[in-house]
Amino acid sequence: MKATAVAHPNVAFIKYWGRKNEILRLPTNGSISMNLDGLTTTTTVEFSPDYKEDSILIDEESKFDEAKRVIEHLDRIRKIAHIAFRAKVVSQNNFPSSTGLSSSASGFAALTVAGVKALGIELSEKELSILARQGSGSACRSILSGFVEWKDADTSEDSYAYTLFPSDYWDIVDIVAVVSTEKKEVPTSEGQKLAQTSPFFTVRSSHIKEKIQKAKKYIEEKRFEEFGELVEEEAIEMHAVMMTSHPSLLYLSQGTLEMMKLVTKWRKEGLPLYFTINTGQDIHLLCERKNVDSIVAKVKEVSQVKKIFVSHPGEGAKLIEKHLF
Ligand code: PMV
Repeated sequence: MKATAVAHPNVAFIKYWGRKNEILRLPTNGSISMNLDGLTTTTTVEFSPDYKEDSILIDEESKFDEAKRVIEHLDRIRKIAHIAFRAKVVSQNNFPSSTGLSSSASGFAALTVAGVKALGIELSEKELSILARQGSGSACRSILSGFVEWKDADTSEDSYAYTLFPSDYWDIVDIVAVVSTEKKEVPTSEGQKLAQTSPFFTVRSSHIKEKIQKAKKYIEEKRFEEFGELVEEEAIEMHAVMMTSHPSLLYLSQGTLEMMKLVTKWRKEGLPLYFTINTGQDIHLLCERKNVDSIVAKVKEVSQVKKIFVSHPGEGAKLIEKHLF
C-alpha cells in the first residue's frame, strides 16, 4: 500500500485569486498555467494497519499547519477508498517551499496521485484534478501536462483543469529568480479569502473572461510579445487587488521590485522578456528559448538574486518506481 509520485508546480499566466466557495475551493474565475519542469516535488505515501497515526514529513520537517492540510486530504482519499488505515507521508521539494514557488500545487498534486494509487483506486485525470483542487486550488492544474486551463465552474464536478496544448507545443522558458527564501507572512489560502474586499475586484472580474480568451489565442498562435504583455499586466493587476484588499496584502519585496524594474529596462534595450509574480519573494521571467542564456547571465549579476531555476513546459503529475522510504 505504498506509492510515489512526482509533480511540478505551475506558473499561472492568468491567475486564480479569490474563491466563490471556500470549502470546495471553487475559484471566482478560470485560470491558465504552464507546469514548470525544473521544479519538482516527490512524495511517497504508505497506508498501513500498523500505523497508529498519520505522520507527515515535508523537506525533513514536521510542521503542524502543513500536516493538518495533508491529513485532511488523506481523509478525502480514505473516504473514496472506504479504508481507514493511517499513513506515512514523506515529501521532498527540489526548491524552497512556501516562498511563492507554488509548492502547495506540486505538493497536493503528488500527494493525490500517490495517495490514490497507494489505496488501489483508479481515477481519471479529471477526477484526480477535482480531488487535488480540494487540497490546494492550483494543484488541480499540476495534475495535467503542458499548457493548462482550469475552467470557471459552479459545481465541484465541473471545476477541474485540462490540457490546452502539450508541453512540446511552444518552447517558452520560465526563469525563476528567488530574491528571498523567507516564508510568506500570509499563506495564499488565507490571502485568497480577502480578494473580494478590494474595490478593484469587480473591475478585474469584468474583463477576466476576455483575458482568458486572449491568453489562449496568444499561446495557440505563439505570439510571444502580446502574450508577455498580457501576462505581465495580469500579474500587476492581481497584486493591485491584493494591496487594496482589507486588510492589505503586500507580497512584493524589495528584490521583487528591483527585478520588475530591470525587466522593463532590459526590454527597452531590446531583450524580449516579461515577468509574472505569484505571491512571495520570487519573480518569474518569461522568454523564448533563444534568449535564455543571455537573460540568465544578466540575472546572475543582480545582487538580490539568491537562486535561479530554469524551467520549460512540464509534464503532469505521474507515478514513479523509486520510493523515498
Ligand atoms: O492554490 P493557492 O491557494 O496556493 O493559490 C495560488 C495563487 C496564485 O499563485 C497567486 C495564483 C495562481 O493562479 O497560481
